[in-house]
Amino acid sequence: MSSTEATEVKPREGFSSRKVFIFAAIGSAVGLGNIWRFPYVAYEGGGGAFVIPYLIALLFAGIPLLYLDYSIGHRFRGSAPLSLRRLGRGAEWLGWWQVLICIVIAVYYAAILAWAGKYTLLSFTKGWGDDPEGYLFGNYLQAAETPGTTFDFVPEISLTMLLFWAITIGVLAMGVQAGIGRTAVIFIPVLVAAFIVLVIIALTLDGAGEGLNTFFTPNWAALKDTGVWTSAVGQIFFSLSVGFGIMITYSSYVSRKTDMTGSGAVVAFSNSGFELLAGIGVFAALGFMAQASGTEVSEVVASGIGLAFVAFPAIINEAPFGAVLGVLFFGSLVLAGLTSLISIIEVVIGAIRDKVGISRRAATFIVGIPMAIASILMFSTTGGLYLLDTVDAFVNSFGILAVATVMMLAVSGVMAKLPTLERHMDRVSSIKLAVWWRWLIGVILPIVLIIMLVQELDTKVAEPYGGYPEDLLNVFGWGMAAALPIIAIGLSLIPWRRGTVLSDDPDEIAAAEEAEDALLVDGGDTA
Ligand code: ALA
Repeated sequence: MSSTEATEVKPREGFSSRKVFIFAAIGSAVGLGNIWRFPYVAYEGGGGAFVIPYLIALLFAGIPLLYLDYSIGHRFRGSAPLSLRRLGRGAEWLGWWQVLICIVIAVYYAAILAWAGKYTLLSFTKGWGDDPEGYLFGNYLQAAETPGTTFDFVPEISLTMLLFWAITIGVLAMGVQAGIGRTAVIFIPVLVAAFIVLVIIALTLDGAGEGLNTFFTPNWAALKDTGVWTSAVGQIFFSLSVGFGIMITYSSYVSRKTDMTGSGAVVAFSNSGFELLAGIGVFAALGFMAQASGTEVSEVVASGIGLAFVAFPAIINEAPFGAVLGVLFFGSLVLAGLTSLISIIEVVIGAIRDKVGISRRAATFIVGIPMAIASILMFSTTGGLYLLDTVDAFVNSFGILAVATVMMLAVSGVMAKLPTLERHMDRVSSIKLAVWWRWLIGVILPIVLIIMLVQELDTKVAEPYGGYPEDLLNVFGWGMAAALPIIAIGLSLIPWRRGTVLSDDPDEIAAAEEAEDALLVDGGDTA
């Protein structure tokens, strides 16, 4: 490495302040899950009544797990596999399982982001025409008649995905502070401002009140359905970015003295506040559409991608200031999705860097380029939509929920590390973790999650998901979900780069970090 390059190398990477860390964590949390997933999940789960399972899931599952992730990353100061390896010898594979989940999520997340990018541009001219549904599935996605994998590419989608991958890889190559941190600090305020304007416009539309009535009118019967509770927990985990390595990775980048529980509370409530705002904005707009087409709001609510990419364009076609509404809505999806995608891929980059000791730039390209290729090959084809739906459904339950359950059981039961983690959090934080945290993480949540997983298994075995062909489900659903922990065990058997501190002694870890800092300042990239 030349000396000019050497002087550019910064001391060990990290966020420059607690504020930047909080912005980055909110950037990760607020994503596609908040804007188009939450409104529909909440409506399906009983509308106003969903607030109860949602809040319970937030307070008793999401936040405690967020604190577990923080405690592991902040105490052991590494990527998910390294932090878990330092926590206990047999736990490394759990970190790799999380890394693999992130790879799976990132490759399809980028596709939705690309669609949102295209729809932001289309909004200016309402380029989807009078038939948004026909446009989406026919003209744009060119979805195959029958679900399955194909090699017929849709060049426009391939190119847009390539663009988003290039942007994401570019940001990640710039590093934790200059890339991830700075992007979040710029994007999040813009996103919040854009979204508030969107909600205000939506609330002024005729029929908005009816939409809100539908959203907030409780359907108490839904609370008896255990599936509603599972979807509340699933929604919180995905939306808060907990249980799949992101918060372990990000919390390893903050100074040792940072107030972690206080920061976590800010992140969790900001994320849920944004989610609620999205619910209000989306349902106000749906109320308008119902009134314009003379139907009930329940008739116009669409699920999944239909909500964002069919119902919204239809609203934009009819609404005053439709184009503004469209640009704000799809632009918000892009901003929110990009900062989340960045965080998902950082889990993989951090893990590879720790394991083999290469520079950030090298790791970013080694990780980013193959992922971009896989993502484009899989999801810009005419069968991409079905694949995306399958992978998304399986990785959320049998990926995120499963790994979170095993991690909680391992940390609390097998390794009995909860007291260590609790002491660590209490030493640095404003809100002290009491005995309830240990009970939740060690006993209550694992039991609840196991029951939910068994039920989910039952449902998905009883009825082929989405009515899709067995081959598709066997490979990209069941096969993918089962393969991840097996590959993870294999990855955990690969030796660490020489000199990696694997002990759980904080002093040794700190000394190693300082030695690494010195090395970096002296001109050696970690490569
Ligand atoms: N937390 C991110 C989202 O909600 C992954 O989309």
